[in-house]
Amino acid sequence: MIYKTLAVSAASLVRKGLVNNFSRNMSSGRFLVYVTRSDMPECGIELLKKQCEVKTWKDAAPVPREEFLKGVAGVDAIYCSLNEKIDQEVLDAAGPQLKVIGTISVGHDHIDLTECRKRGIRIGYTPDVLTDATAELTMALLLATSRRLPEAQHDAKTGGWVSWAPQYMTGPGLNGATVGMVGFGRIGQAVARRVKSFNTAKILYFSRSERVEAKEVGAIKVNFEELLRESDFVIVCAPLVPETKEMFNKSAFEKMKCSAVFVNTSRGALVDQDALIYALENNIIWGAGLDVTTPEPLPLDSPLFKLKNCVVLPHIGSATFGTRNTMSELTASNILAALNGTKMPAELK
Ligand code: NAP
Ligand code: GLV
Repeated sequence: MIYKTLAVSAASLVRKGLVNNFSRNMSSGRFLVYVTRSDMPECGIELLKKQCEVKTWKDAAPVPREEFLKGVAGVDAIYCSLNEKIDQEVLDAAGPQLKVIGTISVGHDHIDLTECRKRGIRIGYTPDVLTDATAELTMALLLATSRRLPEAQHDAKTGGWVSWAPQYMTGPGLNGATVGMVGFGRIGQAVARRVKSFNTAKILYFSRSERVEAKEVGAIKVNFEELLRESDFVIVCAPLVPETKEMFNKSAFEKMKCSAVFVNTSRGALVDQDALIYALENNIIWGAGLDVTTPEPLPLDSPLFKLKNCVVLPHIGSATFGTRNTMSELTASNILAALNGTKMPAELK
């Protein structure tokens, strides 16, 4: 009876706009989850709905910050993407009942881990399930850049294709090349396995620790400078952390071969973008393929869009049908496990 009275008064407070919501939604007794956009793959959202009340931002677009701060008040869990910065302000806005953040990404540089840990908030993410899709996209971007696919297609469509010509649209090949991997974790290794099948001469990698998996592809651990100097292709698969921020700066590009192709599918902030533009404009490196930029989306007037030797993609690394569905289910499963106090399938420790 007391419970029912509480439920009625809670609901009336919500209706009056005096509070936004309640932990363990008072009318249903179920946990409350905030989802930051309306187009998250349905399979994950359906899983949540079986056990929780789900409150979703109304648009198929990132929730505006002000709405986000209002929307999370009183929730037990947040299902977010890399578009939302999860910082002290968001955690304060949510309140002390917040138990878990589930991000539909493996990258977690948008989440203040220290602050979450201080408050005992658990974090779920999506490692492994997107590794193959992201490695495939990295290969597609590498080949699109080195073999000049967007430029060639544009030429073919606009009358630039006059005849077969011996030096037309030529670019560097992978066969016999040295490939340098910066970051040799799940995605870096998956890219290296694919690269090897293109008959490369050597695979180098740079990371803080030695990886036993390197043996499988014959990859050799080197320091950052050596990797830059020796590689025909430099592929970035390291996370954004303070030590990797803008590690690709003027000095790094100057150490690379002028024939080198630079590919980044990690995070834009690993690159000093002005230095990259300068390097591309002045033939300090041969070309660049970017799935990630600063900012995102990249403004239409960015010099990167004007450069023929740069291919820019709109952060689509993990974008296969199956992968995005699996990521959504994993995000939901992480949230449900944390709410039920059980082991999360993929908890960020
Ligand atoms: P992972 O398995 O954790 O691998 C990260 C690698 O980077 C490890 O080899 C790690 O080795 C290395 N690393 C970490 N800190 C480093 C540092 N300071 N200097 C050099 N290397 C360092 O992660 P993953 O699953 O492969 O994902 C990698 C990143 O890809 C994510 O963080 C995300 O930003 C990005 N990503 C992008 C897309 C996309 O759509 N474009 C999709 C998925 C992921 P050590 O710890 O030994 O240094
Ligand atoms: C995508 O960029 C991810 O981190 O999953």
